[in-house]
Amino acid sequence: MVQYLSHRTISPPKSQPMASLSSGAATTPRLLPSAARVRLPISSACSSLSLSSSSSYSPSSLKCLRLSPLSPLICKDQKRSSMSTVAAASDAVQLKSAREDIKELLKSKFCHPILVRLGWHDAGTYNKSIEEWPKRGGANGSLRFEIELKHAANAGLVDALKLIQPIKDKYSGVTYADLFQMASATAIEEAGGSKIPMKYGRVDVSAPDECPEEGRLPDAGPPKPADHLREVFYRMGLNDKEIVALSGAHTLGRSRPERSGWGKPETKYTKNGPGAPGGQSWTAEWLKFDNSYFKDIKERKDGDLLVLPTDAALFEDPFIQGVCREIC
Ligand code: HEM
Repeated sequence: MVQYLSHRTISPPKSQPMASLSSGAATTPRLLPSAARVRLPISSACSSLSLSSSSSYSPSSLKCLRLSPLSPLICKDQKRSSMSTVAAASDAVQLKSAREDIKELLKSKFCHPILVRLGWHDAGTYNKSIEEWPKRGGANGSLRFEIELKHAANAGLVDALKLIQPIKDKYSGVTYADLFQMASATAIEEAGGSKIPMKYGRVDVSAPDECPEEGRLPDAGPPKPADHLREVFYRMGLNDKEIVALSGAHTLGRSRPERSGWGKPETKYTKNGPGAPGGQSWTAEWLKFDNSYFKDIKERKDGDLLVLPTDAALFEDPFIQGVCREIC
């Protein structure tokens, strides 16, 4: 699932090679020696992070982000495409440690689902028809900015950012874009999914005006769900089979009426957590990554399990039905 996102919708600027962690971060050549980073000049105009006083970020997080050695360098270098490779690299040793910290976070907070959604929503703004970066969207860390977090589709994701921010603060050599995707893939693996062969080296946008406009992510209740799904996912360069596979991420997690407006306040499967109780899940074991989403939605045997109009469309639209017969 995240393989599709990581290789297809999260690709960095064309010139940029991606570092792999799967073969052992310590032996992976770093894309940028840290000495090269510190010698580059700082452009203060690009270094601020926009979060209003109503946001619940701690001042220390903000200070750390504003002073992050990477953000001004990325900003400057992204304007000079030949240098963007230099600024983009996440430090492979730090990536490896950050992954261990993500595993600890998952163990203590049971936040696998929301971290998967975080990675998906940063990546899912990708538009294959737009050549220019960062206008084309995709996994570029733009979801850390308040303006994008306030998009209706991102309701609740500020909580995911709060969970991940301490890890970002600890590892200045890891970009948000890489961290979001790493968190998402690690969450799937730790929930029982397959090991995902991730590559790293994504570039962060540096200012809120580089965020994509609202409306690129799918809506759960559009007038014609199947058409809508195709429109949104085809824009990312994905096909029907990939739409079905990716939708299977709803094997994890819950929908909360106070966030997205969808789902029941609680069900027999969610009233006791783990993690924050409440919401309506798509599957009974909503912290286990398996194939039950497809079975449960097909059977619709339990009113306590959620089926969004877009989930239902996977089984109703004749074309996608063909895909479901093949893989479900
Ligand atoms: C196909 C179109 C999709 C629609 C319309 C959709 C819509 C939604 C909605 C409404 C929620 C509930 C949010 C809340 O109330 O907190 C949600 C949750 C979630 N979505 Fe999707 N989604 C789609 C595709 C995906 C994809 C492709 C992925 C990942 C690859 C994904 C991963 C998740 C996860 C893991 C959650 C649970 C989050 C949690 O428990 O906090 N979704 N989605």
